[in-house]
Amino acid sequence: MSDGPLERVHILLGVCGGIAAYKAAELVRRLRDAGAEVRVVMTENATRFVGATTFQALSGNPVRTSLWDESAEAAMGHIELARWADQVLIAPASADFIARLVHGRADDLLSTLVLATSAPVSVAPAMNQQMWSNAATQANVSLLRNRGVRVIPPASGSQACGEVGEGRMPEPEVLVDELAASRVPPVLAGLRVLVSAGPTFEDIDPVRFIGNRSSGRMGFAVAAAAQQAGARVTLVSGPVNLPTPAGVGRVDVRSAREMRDAVVKACADSDIFISAAAVGDYRVQSTSPTKLKKTGKPMVVELVQNPDILAEVAGLKNRPFLVGFAAETNDVERYARDKLERKKLDMIAANQVGTGLGFEGSENALLLIWKDGSEDLGRADKKALARTLVERIASRYRVTIETVVPA
Ligand code: CTP
Repeated sequence: MSDGPLERVHILLGVCGGIAAYKAAELVRRLRDAGAEVRVVMTENATRFVGATTFQALSGNPVRTSLWDESAEAAMGHIELARWADQVLIAPASADFIARLVHGRADDLLSTLVLATSAPVSVAPAMNQQMWSNAATQANVSLLRNRGVRVIPPASGSQACGEVGEGRMPEPEVLVDELAASRVPPVLAGLRVLVSAGPTFEDIDPVRFIGNRSSGRMGFAVAAAAQQAGARVTLVSGPVNLPTPAGVGRVDVRSAREMRDAVVKACADSDIFISAAAVGDYRVQSTSPTKLKKTGKPMVVELVQNPDILAEVAGLKNRPFLVGFAAETNDVERYARDKLERKKLDMIAANQVGTGLGFEGSENALLLIWKDGSEDLGRADKKALARTLVERIASRYRVTIETVVPA
């Protein structure tokens, strides 16, 4: 298994007084699932919403609520705690606490820690929508942003107070993804990356089609990881049931030919193309405009071969750096290396299908192969694999560029 996105990261979680404090309990679990070590500091008002014992049990560490707790100070003083943190996250951050941060107050433990730490600070404001849109709060938030505090904007929706609007604390998974993204080294900064994902559907008639079992998850995870690594990402997706990763531009297509057109168009502006789509190799020769009726006799549907998108892109004059995928049931390395050479790719990510891995599950196992090397990335969660894959693509891309450019 590869590491979680926050493996061994020391996170100091500050919890302020607000109804969203109950969500912070789930957040501690999610942060620990992502590999982080968590210590919780609550403001006095936070303890009116959730008990410290809850956070102690979930974090596995003592919870601090006051500057003046002598035994806690003896165990780990507040300056030591500020130094321990690799990352400070205030969630939920109340309007009052944000105002106090702006003024550099140090009249309780949490505000003192924020002043005393050199770790990056993220805040997730959560409050009534009117309080959030108030000019004073907005001015405070932009001041914090200008000082380098990462403000994770609240979500919209119905609020505990009965109103509807912006001010809800984002869900714990969203906060974990945001923190993970903020810690990814920007290995693809300044580069434009095109990713294809999902299956293609080839229509037989208006109600039937030929498709495949690709869920699109691997390609979507790769697009998200590339975006987090600083790239400008375009995702060309076949029919899938997945949300668009934050910050990624998405083009939806259905058939292989539609995908080919979208990919070739986007390739002109791409430095790297990662072809994770499971493109249907064949389509129906002539799609019936009306629903086909049964005839009582065997039916023959004539299929013709689809364009090979990757091979076509490989033949373009100013082609991007090309990464293909190969799903194989047997002889994975041999077939994949053959594909790398035949399709003139820079790199291929091969996986064995038919063993509970691959298309539909959340895990995959990839073997990376390039001209003069290979690396087994092992079995892991698709998001974790995507991050490693993006790092390896970035370093191979640099090697290739450095070898090609000098003249
Ligand atoms: N691909 C493509 N266009 C196609 C088919 C596949 O761009 N019409 C891309 C896929 O996105 C993937 C790689 O090519 O990156 C897979 O190679 P391919 O040879 O198509 O795999 P298979 O269909 O499994 O090939 P074979 O049947 O020869 O094993």
